Amino acid sequence: MLPSLPSDYRALVFGSSGGIGGAVAAALEGDPRCAEVVGLSRRDGFDLEDEASIAGAAERLAGQAFDLLFDATGALVIDGAGPEKALRGIDPEAMARQFAVNAIGPALILKHFTPLMPRGQRALFGTLSARVGSIGDNRLGGWISYRAAKAALNQIVRTAAVEVARQRPEAVLAALHPGTVETRLSDPFAGSRDRLTPAASAAALLSVLDGLSPRQSGGFFAYDGQAIEW
Ligand SMILES: NC(=O)c1ccc[n+]([C@@H]2O[C@H](COP(=O)([O-])OP(=O)(O)OC[C@H]3O[C@@H](n4cnc5c(N)ncnc54)[C@H](OP(=O)(O)O)[C@@H]3O)[C@@H](O)[C@H]2O)c1
Repeated sequence: MLPSLPSDYRALVFGSSGGIGGAVAAALEGDPRCAEVVGLSRRDGFDLEDEASIAGAAERLAGQAFDLLFDATGALVIDGAGPEKALRGIDPEAMARQFAVNAIGPALILKHFTPLMPRGQRALFGTLSARVGSIGDNRLGGWISYRAAKAALNQIVRTAAVEVARQRPEAVLAALHPGTVETRLSDPFAGSRDRLTPAASAAALLSVLDGLSPRQSGGFFAYDGQAIEW
């Protein structure tokens, strides 16, 4: 796995308690070339809605370098508030929480953790967006807060990639669509639709990230390697 990284690479997984995050952490733990996997989640007091908890986690790891940062956090239903079917369903507080978890949280991860990416060598940062965050691909409507928060996340990744490239030209940052995956997030919405197992999605996402060049940094890619329109 991840042949583009050094043979003793180190990885950090945010949201390691989640369906996809847990599968990413397990895949990395099973890779003999991976020297260490550190997982962070709310079980460790790491909460995207509390910047101090993010800063504290970064401080505890200061001085260490991570070749791979994988952000598998995110939410579709937050404290019982699910995706809206129509404009009349917009609730300002629920919409703000969607932005807090799906856009601002990953922005804070970038703020506090990109300094832990090594300089002068390849390093990877992937964050889980969603195809429904694509503005160009939006034909069905609905889910306005989740869609808008993921679109904001995509812009955050793009902007961060431009800045990170100045000091770390070999780094790759990417927004990733994991496919429709069997997790508690998609369970209520899956219907009879085929879903990937978390293990299959995790393996595909790591392979896509591994294959990206620094020229592709800041892009939006699906688990099958295809670029997704903004
Ligand atoms: N599953 C799909 O079909 C699908 C499709 C497209 C995109 N995605 C995206 O993939 C990502 C992972 O989803 P998943 O399916 O693996 O869902 P999941 O099993 O519900 O995992 C979500 C993860 O995010 C964490 N999280 C949520 N709110 C948080 C907060 N405030 N602070 C810190 N961590 C928080 C959860 O922590 P706790 O364990 O503490 O709740 C969990 O680790 C999400 O960004 C989702 O939008 C999933």
